[in-house]
Amino acid sequence: MQTDFLVIGSGIAGLTYALKVAQRFPEKQVTIITKAAADETNTKYAQGGIAVVNDLEKDSFEKHIEDTLISGDGLCDPEIVEMVIREGPARVQEIIDWGARFDKDPEGEYKLGREGGHSEFRILHHKDITGLEMETALLNAITRAPNIAMIKHCFVIDIITQHHLGYLVTKSTPDITCYGVYVLNAATNAIEKILSRVTLLATGGNGQVYRTTTNPFIATGDGVAMVYRAKGRIENMEFIQFHPTALYEAGKRGQAFLITEAMRGDGGILRNSKGEAFMKRYDAREDLAPRDIVARAIDNEMKISGTEHVYLDCTHMNMEQFRDHFPNIFEKCLSIGIDVEKQMIPVAPAAHYSCGGIKTDQWGKSSIRFLYACGECASTGLHGANRLASNSLLEAMVFAHRCFLDSVESIESAKAFPDIPAWNAMGTSEPKEMILITQSLKELQQVMSDYVGIVRNNVRLQRASKRIDLLFEETEELYQATAVSPQLLELRNMITVGYLIVKGATFRKESRGLHFNTDYPSKSELVENIVL
Ligand code: FAD
Ligand code: SIN
Repeated sequence: MQTDFLVIGSGIAGLTYALKVAQRFPEKQVTIITKAAADETNTKYAQGGIAVVNDLEKDSFEKHIEDTLISGDGLCDPEIVEMVIREGPARVQEIIDWGARFDKDPEGEYKLGREGGHSEFRILHHKDITGLEMETALLNAITRAPNIAMIKHCFVIDIITQHHLGYLVTKSTPDITCYGVYVLNAATNAIEKILSRVTLLATGGNGQVYRTTTNPFIATGDGVAMVYRAKGRIENMEFIQFHPTALYEAGKRGQAFLITEAMRGDGGILRNSKGEAFMKRYDAREDLAPRDIVARAIDNEMKISGTEHVYLDCTHMNMEQFRDHFPNIFEKCLSIGIDVEKQMIPVAPAAHYSCGGIKTDQWGKSSIRFLYACGECASTGLHGANRLASNSLLEAMVFAHRCFLDSVESIESAKAFPDIPAWNAMGTSEPKEMILITQSLKELQQVMSDYVGIVRNNVRLQRASKRIDLLFEETEELYQATAVSPQLLELRNMITVGYLIVKGATFRKESRGLHFNTDYPSKSELVENIVL
């Protein structure tokens, strides 16, 4: 199969880009590939909303820029921050034009939410299901675009480069070029090659590398792992953001239900097992301090008390307003026997967002030619060492637009396809037992959660590194001998992502933002990105 534009991922980043290139080039073919159902994305689960300056009388670009820089703890690229925040309102207007609705008051003004690290109320939202609203609007717009095809349940395995033509490709090869991808297509159960002139990776985050995460099962860091294997540049992987308040349900692994930070913006208070409002002991901004600070404070309180969670207290809040803003959370809590009007919500931190990823420039270009990356899989310079709440949906839209603008030029210079060989599955046989995959995945998640979580130290990182090396060796053996399956491919990718997180964390000899190492508790004077 051949296509002009290949988009990998059907979240906000991939869909926004696809719509733009399809509208600009009605005669060209745009193909979206996604490994699950179209809407099974991190985007769908976004709750709090999208941070954007929309009332210049009460708010300003300068304040949003400053909040982003403070949250990023010295590692944001100030030019990128300024660009994203100033370009944000135009991009948000586009998604409104495509059909997304944000809550308004009876006077027709947007109701603005607030989250940790924001000095103003500036977050547009649709109840507590903003992501679902945005994803639905984008998917509806996609169905109206005749030159977009979406292939669902199709797993991208690897990026095709000169390596697949028999050339030696190393990190110092200057012109590594993307010609397309190999995929495992569930419809045919075959490995196919899809050749493309321009490719966008929008594969999202990697929360599944940890035992508990707010991310759905698709968030396995596939794009990052593929680019790393293709010898492209990856940066700042050590900055994994733990959301302070995922719903605590005893014994639960995998995807945890999020309790949005917007609830603290509306007055919710964190309390420890003794009922104390502890955040005042950690930061003057209390419950609305940036996420890295709040998550570390909760982690500390849990360690002191020996409990597995703290509480979010909303019992004092106006329940009519609460139910209007957070109907989904209200219902979820009720479904597990928590009446938020009378009871506090048990919450604990969970892996939530990857601030690092595929290194890109200000146009979303990766280090590989004709390969763009945007959304959570990319590292653009916006988030630095700790993403400001609700800046992710904004970043995805701004960079999808920038990738589109640059693609308008790169599609013109894209050359004819070379003769790419078919996937070689010689010597592999059907897997005999899935336990080899599922057990290794559990081990990886355990190692990452216990040794590479909110607080790290050198011994823990060394242990994690040794165990991941072993998992890598065993999984490579399996990969060489076994017919591939999505489960095996995801395990392989997650081991690579775990390796990159540990490597980044080991190289960073300081504590900054989300990376806290008790052996180096302060910030280094040398402010640098760690590129792998
Ligand atoms: P995603 O939306 O995750 O899409 C990734 C896509 O890539 C999926 O379609 C997936 O199937 C596909 N894919 C991955 N690997 C492969 C492969 N190998 N082959 C084929 N397809 C593949 N951010 C905010 O700004 N505001 C919020 O309020 C907010 N709330 C959040 C709440 C939750 C619970 C979560 C999990 C995140 C939240 N975030 C929020 C973060 C934000 O939602 C994500 O960062 C953003 O939606 C990522 O969009 P994306 O398009 O990059 O990736
Ligand atoms: C939330 O609603 O708390 C999540 C917001 C985000 O991740 O930006």
